[in-house]
Amino acid sequence: PQNVGILAMEIYFPPTCIQQDILENFDGVSKGKYTIGLGQDCMAFCSEVEDVISMGLTAVTSLLEKYEIDPKKIGRMEVGSETVIDKSKSIKTFLMKIFEDCGNTDIEGVDSTNACYGGTAALFNCVNWVESSSWDGRYGLVVTTDSAVYAEGPARPTGGAGAVAMLIGPDAPIAFESKFRASHMAHAYDFYKPDLASEYPVVDGKLSQTCYLMALDSCYKGYCQKYEKLQGNQFSMADADYFVFHSPYNKLVQKSFARLVFDDVARNASSVDESAKEKLGPFTSLNGDESYQSRDLEKASQQVAKPEYDKKVQPGTLIPKQLGNMYTASLYAAFASLIHNKSSSLDGKRVMMFSYGSGLTATMFSLRLTEGKAPFSLTNIAKVLNIEHKLKTRTELEPEKFVDLMHVMEHRYGGKDYVTSKDTSHLASGTYYLTHVDSKYRRYYAKK
Ligand code: ACO
Repeated sequence: PQNVGILAMEIYFPPTCIQQDILENFDGVSKGKYTIGLGQDCMAFCSEVEDVISMGLTAVTSLLEKYEIDPKKIGRMEVGSETVIDKSKSIKTFLMKIFEDCGNTDIEGVDSTNACYGGTAALFNCVNWVESSSWDGRYGLVVTTDSAVYAEGPARPTGGAGAVAMLIGPDAPIAFESKFRASHMAHAYDFYKPDLASEYPVVDGKLSQTCYLMALDSCYKGYCQKYEKLQGNQFSMADADYFVFHSPYNKLVQKSFARLVFDDVARNASSVDESAKEKLGPFTSLNGDESYQSRDLEKASQQVAKPEYDKKVQPGTLIPKQLGNMYTASLYAAFASLIHNKSSSLDGKRVMMFSYGSGLTATMFSLRLTEGKAPFSLTNIAKVLNIEHKLKTRTELEPEKFVDLMHVMEHRYGGKDYVTSKDTSHLASGTYYLTHVDSKYRRYYAKK
């Protein structure tokens, strides 16, 4: 099979959200800390009737319907999530209900978990399967679904929630350049969830930022080396049209792109212009550690990067800024933003993708885009995603209500024997929701 990649996409996110400027006010932090300091506009979260399973069910059902895919044509389904609902039973098995009902139980794949990286692992598994000798000619399906919630404190505004479903197969408008792919994997305690009784992570915010940037440097270096070895010519940022990043919050994306600009200066890439060399050259004498700590470098590189950021990164930031960190779904929601913003003009473009999961695991890979033929065309994908409408029809909650909800969810996490309010007035028709959890922890869902 040729040009294996993403044929179709759908995104679902809870309509419940809170504006970051209102949260700033409520939390009593300085004005602009979340909106400018973190670069976030709004944050989505699950109400008590939604969770990662219901979001996955909604995204998958909607994808199958809107692209008119026969559920029997799915041969592999992989789920990426770091929201643990059961330590044994995979989220994938919950989603099987959709396929069982249509008489298809012959579907390989389970869940992949490592912080925000599980979605990328799931995606690679599906792409690799289609490219392998065990491929049976059917589609792969990737589901990334997460609800990111943090304890009260500085990390809370970096929560978010959402699910992205992607159909995988050959002759895709979004094709993998599978030979160019570089990873950086190491052991770190930057963000982890050791307390199995709590949904909240333990997080060392500053360390997680540095780990993210170190992994980015390492992946970019590896990507360039692999590209150069195979292509025989140098790779630099000028060879890519767009850059899409895992987005815990937008400020880190701004810093990441600036870091790549600095990396190109440091490796003396031929595409770097004189002005960038002049402004960033002096910093190339810093050692690794110093360079991650230098505020002057951070400022200078962001300034140099700004025009290119607006062109190559900004179109892929809309959804993460509006929803917050969707963990495994974050990178793919960012990519969906790019399709939404640039759909018809993406033909022939190369998109760089950077996936990061704390702990830590990271990969940089690239995609080659072509318009394709409906229903698997970029134009149709943008139409199905229907992002503007989904963002417009949300319900904003007061901060007091949000905090109350967080308390309810803390109490319910890992619990049994409860019935939800079943209030679905805020949900669009077709949305799955949680109705109750019985005395044996079994979860039940219904469709609005
Ligand atoms: N106006 C404008 N900017 C402001 C204001 C203001 N009033 N107040 C603060 N800022 C800026 C700060 O200068 C800082 O910007 P900088 O990074 O460019 O210096 C930024 O806002 C954040 O402020 P800090 O005081 O550094 O933030 P704090 O320590 O309160 O927490 C953090 C931020 C660490 C990101 C926290 O939210 C967190 O731990 N989040 C979860 C971890 C995370 O997402 N890590 C990313 C990778 S791992 C993953 O994906 C989960």
